[in-house]
Amino acid sequence: MLSVRAPATSANLGSGFDVFGVALDRPADLVRVEKADETTIEVTGVGATYIPTDPDGNTVGAVAEALDAPAHIHINKGVRPSSGLGSSAASAAAAALALNELYDRGLTREELVPIAAKGEAVVSGEPHADNVAPSLLGGFTIASGDGITSVDADIPLVACLPEIAVSTRDARRVVPSTAEMTDLVDTVGHAATLTVGMCRSDPELVGEGMTDEIVTPARAGLISGYTQVRTAAFDAGATGVTVSGAGPSVIAACYDGDRRAVAGAMLDAFADVGVDARAYQTRIGRGAEVLK
Ligand code: HSE
Repeated sequence: MLSVRAPATSANLGSGFDVFGVALDRPADLVRVEKADETTIEVTGVGATYIPTDPDGNTVGAVAEALDAPAHIHINKGVRPSSGLGSSAASAAAAALALNELYDRGLTREELVPIAAKGEAVVSGEPHADNVAPSLLGGFTIASGDGITSVDADIPLVACLPEIAVSTRDARRVVPSTAEMTDLVDTVGHAATLTVGMCRSDPELVGEGMTDEIVTPARAGLISGYTQVRTAAFDAGATGVTVSGAGPSVIAACYDGDRRAVAGAMLDAFADVGVDARAYQTRIGRGAEVLK
């Protein structure tokens, strides 16, 4: 028997649609695995009732299949499903690391990324690695083609999760299929700025680079109060604010000293439009860990 903790993640960060991701220090999923003849899945924790336990419809079932590693898998959800915080990716990453250890498959974390991404496909319709990569590797990750680049970074963050459900499938449907050249040029500039900011652990540059004129505006309409929450976060000292993943979470970068005020301002702004929310005062953190 073996247990793994895998962190929530925030992908895109505005300018890096389907490319950038960060591991969050909190929240996280805990996955316990035990060898079995057939895979069975049990789910407890936040939003457990919404998660299928049939291995064919569950992200960890696809991972067990890909690793040829049947097991009884218990998932304790700390990351709410449909939150924009990489809930399915956290479970998939945890299962990949745990089953790799349990069955002594000897794969590296980098090699586990595409396997965990197969689990993501069960939920969102297509395999994308921008959440599973940071959940496995930690830090800031760039998923480009089949390659993954990662760098440690230390940036304080607030992830504010409203009581709204946005499915990844719906949020992907509103993404435009074409873009203006001027918007593409701006996005490349922001993505480059954000990357330098991550390498320097500089909240100012990271925040500046979290701007995107293509994907985020199309998704903002799915989140009641997004504009007000964004403005409130900036007024409280955030250096950058955008939709986290496919939403509905909104993520803000800031300096340590402003984090509490940013979290409070975001909660108040959601409350003003009648939406309950919770705020995680978090930061970029480590990847999945086997628990001793
Ligand atoms: N990059 C993905 C998206 C993350 O924004 O749709 C959500 O899983």
